[in-house]
Amino acid sequence: AARLAASTFDEVIAADQKIEPRDAMPEAYRKTLIRQIAQHAHSEIIGMQPEGNWISRAPSLKRKAILLAKVQDEAGHGLYLYAAAETLGVSRADLVDALLDGRQKYSSIFNYPTLTWADVGAIGWLVDGAAIVNQVPLCRCSYGPYARAMIRVCKEESFHQRQGYEILHTLAHGTEAQHAMAQDALDRWWYPSLAMFGPPDADSTHSERSMAWKIKRFSNDELRQRFVDMCVGQAEILGLRIPDDGLRWNEQRGAYDFTAPDYAELMRVIKGDGPCNRQRIEHRRRAHAEGAWVREAAEAYARKHATATVA
Ligand code: 3HC
Repeated sequence: AARLAASTFDEVIAADQKIEPRDAMPEAYRKTLIRQIAQHAHSEIIGMQPEGNWISRAPSLKRKAILLAKVQDEAGHGLYLYAAAETLGVSRADLVDALLDGRQKYSSIFNYPTLTWADVGAIGWLVDGAAIVNQVPLCRCSYGPYARAMIRVCKEESFHQRQGYEILHTLAHGTEAQHAMAQDALDRWWYPSLAMFGPPDADSTHSERSMAWKIKRFSNDELRQRFVDMCVGQAEILGLRIPDDGLRWNEQRGAYDFTAPDYAELMRVIKGDGPCNRQRIEHRRRAHAEGAWVREAAEAYARKHATATVA
């Protein structure tokens, strides 16, 4: 039965079909999905901090309402993804512990500070824009629950990207000081957004197997290139300059040549040495501890409710 199941798994992958929770799957396939989906979920939860920082300081009620809705969406994306990870036989509590004690990661991009209101625009345009480039192919991931979660997430992501782009468009076409603030945000967020796609393909430990299993549909460098090509025209409409003297159209390749992000910096940030790593994890640990009473109350209610229906 195991041999049959294994060949079924390969046939399902080869036929571009979906693997579902109860299907037989190689242990390594399960493990790498738990790793990626959990870290994706952790990224959504930690990602609420940089922007959440500006909810109370948004420049108008309208901007505050939009930012509030976006940050709440990110929480929902995290819960969606923890639910997808649980279908692989792990508990959400264990995944959260793995984040809090550093055994699992979250995206490097959220370890940078949000210094001005323009950063909220840059995050929406660039970080959510990069997330869209990365997450649209994940809608065709071979693992059913992950692919289906991505379809809902991508719909909300385009609202996130659009609201950020509109913030920057307003600032870039505002006063000189506002234009300078928008340019400063682009200068600080451009390279960390390129790095978000991961190490170069040559240094990517998981890509080969993830692509063979049709979890990853395009390589880190392919998606990074797609992102750069998408942003150049958008920056021109904003009237902002992408901080890269090496950026130029390459007719042969039909794509932009660009300066790569500092991958040594990416490795440092991934290892915990970014500008805000400690702050982000301390904030999460504190929120987790302060929220213990909610979890305990919900569990007590569930136990009481379960016995009540049995009786
Ligand atoms: N930040 C932190 N760690 C990163 C990273 C980054 N930007 N890029 C790569 N890594 C880690 C990988 O997790 C892996 O470490 P691990 O073995 O401990 O997990 C190691 O570096 C080697 O990288 P690989 O390229 O071999 O790893 P993957 O094949 O997993 O590719 C990835 C990395 C492209 C991020 C892939 O995991 C992925 O597509 N994940 C799903 C999308 C995701 O997590 N996005 C994060 C942002 S969420 C977001 O933007 C929400 C939006 O609403 C703002």
